[in-house]
Amino acid sequence: MATVPQKSNFVPAASLDQRPAADRERAPIPTPRSAPTPTNLIRQLVRNSPFVAKNFRLYFQNAWRRHVRGTKVVAPYAVTFYVTHKCNLACSYCTQKEPDVFSEELPTAATIRILKKIRKETDSIVITGGEPTLRPDIEDLVAAARQEIKFRSLLLITNGTLLDRKPRILQHVTGLIVSLDALSADPTNPLSKPAALPKVLENLQFAAGVLGPRRITISTVIEEWNISEVERLLDWCGERGYVFAAQSAQLEKMPNLQLLRNPQYHALVDKIIERRRANQQPINGTPHTIETLLRFKTFECYPTMFPRVYPNGDVFYPCEPLHTIAGNLLRDGSLRKIFARGKKTYGDIPPCQGVCYLFGNVLSHYYVNDFWALAGEFIR
Ligand SMILES: C[S@@+](CC[C@H](N)C(=O)[O-])C[C@H]1O[C@@H](n2cnc3c(N)ncnc32)[C@H](O)[C@@H]1O
Ligand code: SF4
Repeated sequence: MATVPQKSNFVPAASLDQRPAADRERAPIPTPRSAPTPTNLIRQLVRNSPFVAKNFRLYFQNAWRRHVRGTKVVAPYAVTFYVTHKCNLACSYCTQKEPDVFSEELPTAATIRILKKIRKETDSIVITGGEPTLRPDIEDLVAAARQEIKFRSLLLITNGTLLDRKPRILQHVTGLIVSLDALSADPTNPLSKPAALPKVLENLQFAAGVLGPRRITISTVIEEWNISEVERLLDWCGERGYVFAAQSAQLEKMPNLQLLRNPQYHALVDKIIERRRANQQPINGTPHTIETLLRFKTFECYPTMFPRVYPNGDVFYPCEPLHTIAGNLLRDGSLRKIFARGKKTYGDIPPCQGVCYLFGNVLSHYYVNDFWALAGEFIR
């Protein structure tokens, strides 16, 4: 297995919920224990029509690309835009702070130009970093992304430490992903998430007051040391109405396979899946995607479904973990052109059989290979 340092990030399933914030507030994703009646199903389909239409369009486009054109380069669903590499923390598992392929942040106007290019090919964006709230212009960027550029879905991933200093963010995002690794504060390592916990909890309360808990996802990264902390976070999210999300820490592009020998880990995964299956609380993903993601089951990755764009507009092809940049949005104009060039230079998407167990990668497998089962699990 390659020993290059792994680039870490993930795309949450909440990005699938394309409905405007107001609709989500009025009609949270239903959580029935039994299958919906045909009337309810039709009502849901009509209410979510832009989201449903997008999914069907992409399904047919992808089927065409896979089966007629014989390529794994599928259309983008949502773009992950890294607006900075700077961060005020230093999580042990993270390589985003100091990526191998570094890219300079551009001034606000040029960054907005990148956002406009992205919008031409997708209506969904995930803003991440580094720590995006460290950018002095982050409030202007999210305001432009929603109000001027009209992204339908805008999620921001943050460690939550600075939200109170950038309150305008909350007026514009459709959802917030706040990363937490533990519920017990631990000041031992001042640059870790457990040390920042008291401030983050304060900011979370503030954010929930504006957005409501259902638009906030608590994203956890599982390692051997925090299995019981993640279990506590699962309960805590359930009590407060936050969406719970989990993935394991990726090391060198691989998950820690040792976790599979840990009965406590399996018990946690079982609990997450059971609760999701019973719709007991909001949990990111479906029983199948969670099983694949956390038990490291085989999957096929379609990385162009969730392309990664760096702060200067550089775009990776086939994917970020392979460190290969195929073009730049400001110079080349579109993801389509960049992917076409990438395919010529690096070939089609390699059959790596999915070793990077990040949510977006696993989701891309189900989207392309098992769309109807995925749709069925979302509807239930
Ligand atoms: C790179 S961070 C950037 C946003 C922000 N600084 C934060 O921590 O939420 C994005 C997400 O990736 C997760 N992450 C970072 N390194 C990871 C790794 N090695 N394996 C799995 N997830 C990782 C973080 O916990 C966070 O939820
Ligand atoms: S807060 Fe986010 S970007 Fe910063 S070190 Fe931790 S995971 Fe990486």
